[in-house]
Amino acid sequence: MEIIHLSAECYPIAKVGGLGDVVGALPKYQNKLGHVAKVVMPAYRNKFLIENEFEVVYNGWCKLGFHDYSVNILREKTNKLGFDLYLVRINNFFERELVYGYDDDTERFLAYQVAVLDWIAQWEHRPDVIHCHDHHTGLVPFMTAYCHQFEKLRHIPSILTIHNAQYQGQFGWDKLHYIPAFDLWKSGLLDWKGAINPLAAAIKCAWRITTVSPSYLEEITVSANGLEDLLAQERGKSFGILNGIDHDVWNPRTDPMLLKNYTVRGVDNGKKANKVALCELFNLDPERPLFTFIGRLVGEKGADLLPEIFHNALNQFKNQISILILGSGEPEVEERLTQLKLVFPGDYNVFLGYNEQLAHQIYAAADFLLMPSRVEPCGLNQLYALRYGTIPIVRRIGGLKDTVVDIGDGGFGICHDQASVTDVGHAIGRAFELYSNSMPVAGKQHIPVEGKQVTEIRKYIMQLDHSWDKAAQQYIDIYQM
Ligand code: GLC
Repeated sequence: MEIIHLSAECYPIAKVGGLGDVVGALPKYQNKLGHVAKVVMPAYRNKFLIENEFEVVYNGWCKLGFHDYSVNILREKTNKLGFDLYLVRINNFFERELVYGYDDDTERFLAYQVAVLDWIAQWEHRPDVIHCHDHHTGLVPFMTAYCHQFEKLRHIPSILTIHNAQYQGQFGWDKLHYIPAFDLWKSGLLDWKGAINPLAAAIKCAWRITTVSPSYLEEITVSANGLEDLLAQERGKSFGILNGIDHDVWNPRTDPMLLKNYTVRGVDNGKKANKVALCELFNLDPERPLFTFIGRLVGEKGADLLPEIFHNALNQFKNQISILILGSGEPEVEERLTQLKLVFPGDYNVFLGYNEQLAHQIYAAADFLLMPSRVEPCGLNQLYALRYGTIPIVRRIGGLKDTVVDIGDGGFGICHDQASVTDVGHAIGRAFELYSNSMPVAGKQHIPVEGKQVTEIRKYIMQLDHSWDKAAQQYIDIYQM
């Protein structure tokens, strides 16, 4: 099959969150299954664009309202990513570094979608399926089905994957003229609660819908930032497919970003070596259990709870635990997390920003990863943690619930029910107990206790298979429907 993935993000070209990781891996695994999966995304002016070689495969114009914009589509020449990559260059809109966050994001992603469809409409053949990811590509299923200028694309099946229903890309009806002409009586398909809503339009028009975990599929009929009823209505064509991770990129045995590589057998020593090096960098004590949080510092991820959680834990386990955070997001959370450094120097540190290499190093060094998410459609960080032998402490929600089993239930992680300071605090207490029962901790008398040992859990979780092989086939099965 020929599959066209449309997405605003794709690792390593441009990544803001998990969406980038998924779109950077899934096509590669679909190709391994013998299909032809391609990625078509905007050409942001970033390092990848500057450092790689491209050939121009299309020159044209794209009409947005009363203006025409020149479009070039570039193909990466070497196929080094394991799939064909096409970048859509539209001068006014993507000659910028960031993926999102501009006042004209609506126009930018609309222009991208129109330009891509103009291009595909000129092909001599039709792809077998167009796979749209999140709201930035959400108008495609509507446009292929109903816009006059895309008549030729009418019968191409479209599928929408919802990575996160919180973001929907709504804009006012005053911008309707940006969408190429269609029979106006179909306008209702674009509408949700009085605005043009690209995610809602995709939910209505795509031939199939998927969410990135089975639990999230259930949860969004109850809580999805206003789209609950619509998602319940369209439940019949919806499926939950758990994300995988790219085992080529995320492999502690070969990962070039690590300070020391390690295998399942050598996990204790390997993690220790990484921890010693990292703790030195961040002025932390490597003899204590290291807790971490990696990710966007936003309410959805429960990041606003972290300052209080860590404040309490550092008081309760004085001189017995270390904490290191990597992330960026809401200024207030960043500020409060930074201030904690003054209160607990030597026990706690934070790196504000996005740093892929440091993230890998922390997964390798840490003992526990916290994910107190309020919403978690899949969550990839717990999967990276597992692969690196780091024990996840997660809230039972969405994909976290589908991938982490509590030690008390015969599993390997620590789970809690609420995204609250008390629940997470209690979970940290359980983690500390688990750790100090099987590992020596500075300042605490070491009396090993029977039961599941940290080493045993590490070895077990590193061998869990969350690679893309299975999910890649599940998507193919849905395309085939
Ligand atoms: C979004 C979700 C996250 C998911 C990722 C990839 O970032 O918030 O839970 O893992 O998309 O699907």
